[in-house]
Amino acid sequence: MSVTESKSNAKIILMGEHSVVYGKSAIALPFFAAEIIARIQKSDSDISIDSEHFSGKLSQAPSLLKGVRNLIYEGLKLLNMENEKIKITVESTIPSQRGFGSSAAVSVAIAKALFSYANKNLTVEMLTDLVGKAEKTHHENPSGLDGDTIISKQAIYFKKGNENIKLNFNLDLDLVVGDTGVPASTKEAVRKVARNKDKEPFIEELGYLSNQVLKNIRNRDGESMGLNMNQAHRVLSQLGVSTDELDRLVNSSLKAGALGAKLSGGGLGGCMIALCKKDKTQDILNELKESGASSTWVLDLKEI
Ligand code: MEV
Repeated sequence: MSVTESKSNAKIILMGEHSVVYGKSAIALPFFAAEIIARIQKSDSDISIDSEHFSGKLSQAPSLLKGVRNLIYEGLKLLNMENEKIKITVESTIPSQRGFGSSAAVSVAIAKALFSYANKNLTVEMLTDLVGKAEKTHHENPSGLDGDTIISKQAIYFKKGNENIKLNFNLDLDLVVGDTGVPASTKEAVRKVARNKDKEPFIEELGYLSNQVLKNIRNRDGESMGLNMNQAHRVLSQLGVSTDELDRLVNSSLKAGALGAKLSGGGLGGCMIALCKKDKTQDILNELKESGASSTWVLDLKEI
């Protein structure tokens, strides 16, 4: 039986998480070390899904998959295939709930696979809309940053309502990613910030720092970029979304010679990133492992 397959990648936020929800700018990168594969094949019974979170009839999928479930129904409706019986298999090497945008990545891979199965063209606008709706069900108030970064497959400067600016870093630096191993809900983190009555100056500052980092990238100024990342981590901590585990990994990477480090994504667990010169990368990886990182990755900013 023929199987249609589509892939998507993860994302890493360099600057602007949380403040991006309030209309400030952010910078994010695609992360190709982890990927989602969605496969679709004809089935003789209902629409079913097989994923790490649930296997069975789509109509009985748990609320965690509500966004994806709606995306599949809406995609099939757009394709005039509401009555099509299919089996969707999702395979993922993107750790979920770590700030890698796994929910948006699953949506992108499934939407692409659906249209490919139907042999129909899926425009970027349609894909963005489908993914945006699924993310809204999943996270309540998403900025759209995760979906846009994953769809564009390029580093972007993002501001809600504005056209994304594609970025080329081309810097002789690495970005080391460290996973605390602690799963964290973006929805909870976004809610926590929303409840913070004193958030306004922090949001302003995070937006300012994102714009500074855009200048640093363009001026090829890694030292200043590192300092701006450190400041963003302090502000995110003040907002209440850092944790002891994140602080420990951030501090140990700085001790090992990083130019700057911060949490990345929603926080309350998940991942951190450290910017460094290439001769420090191995020391930082070692130090992160010693400080309890469950996994580490390296992104070469020359290739971004
Ligand atoms: C989550 O990856 C990033 C947040 O800024 C939420 C969002 O942009 O929707 C925390």
